[in-house]
Amino acid sequence: MVTGASGQLGLALLKQLKNTDFQVKLTSRRKPANVIFEWVYSDLMTGKGLEEAIKAVDVIIHAATSPRKDSDMIDVSGLKKLLDMSKDIKHFIYPSIVGIEDIPMKYYRNKFQAEELLKNSSVPHTIVRAAQFHSFVENLFLSKPLFKRYLVPGEIKFQSVDVGEYAAYLIQMIDEGAKGIREDFGGPEILTLREMAELKIKVNNESNKVVNLSFPGKLYKSLLEGKNTNKHQKVGKITFEEYLRNRAVHK
Ligand SMILES: NC(=O)c1ccc[n+]([C@@H]2O[C@H](COP(=O)([O-])OP(=O)(O)OC[C@H]3O[C@@H](n4cnc5c(N)ncnc54)[C@H](OP(=O)(O)O)[C@@H]3O)[C@@H](O)[C@H]2O)c1
Repeated sequence: MVTGASGQLGLALLKQLKNTDFQVKLTSRRKPANVIFEWVYSDLMTGKGLEEAIKAVDVIIHAATSPRKDSDMIDVSGLKKLLDMSKDIKHFIYPSIVGIEDIPMKYYRNKFQAEELLKNSSVPHTIVRAAQFHSFVENLFLSKPLFKRYLVPGEIKFQSVDVGEYAAYLIQMIDEGAKGIREDFGGPEILTLREMAELKIKVNNESNKVVNLSFPGKLYKSLLEGKNTNKHQKVGKITFEEYLRNRAVHK
């Protein structure tokens, strides 16, 4: 079963699970379009539908999350509800994020708490932390130039990954069995946000410029130091530039 089936990672998982022999079940609140698998409504906030969703399931890939709103209710309490019902689950696969203990953000604190819940539960599990998705960095920082300028904290670093490659890696974990915390899944290169913005300008032949901003505070400092990266785990192959070129072709 894939939770968060209508999200970025959820959709990437579905696309690839179509080409496998697994019997797949999906759950989320919104039904993804054109699904060929069984889909069950469930809400991690209220618990509605979870019992039904989890029926006859051996493996869960838990891609549901709520970074912006009610993260503690969905990512921590919601996970707890699901784990309490998952006593017979053979393998619970949890996508997490690189460096969360060193980056002072509420969502990351919740993700860390969620990892702790899993580690202290009796449910056999695998935790796989990934760096930010290429699309996440682009959408958050590089989607709307202002007066032909990308105003960005240009010195912070990312080791972004292709969501499809990460989905494939998580699917591979199904057969590898529950192994606790696995190695980080980082992208092939570590770039500053300024370099990423410049790549976008080059690939799309834009006339935009990059204006570098800096910020006070611990969050900014942790990203300047690249706490969200892991130079020893350049596992993904698809670079940010390749992601952008691919997008440009499919536009
Ligand atoms: N985005 C990144 O850059 C990144 C990087 C590394 C790891 N990850 C991890 O990958 C996982 C998936 O992230 P994502 O970016 O794919 O998230 P996303 O696109 O925001 O999708 C979140 C999913 O969670 C579901 N959801 C939200 N509230 C819910 C609720 N109350 N009950 C049930 N389902 C709910 C949403 O579906 P409905 O609204 O239809 O319910 C949606 O399908 C997360 O664990 C995240 O931490 C993400």
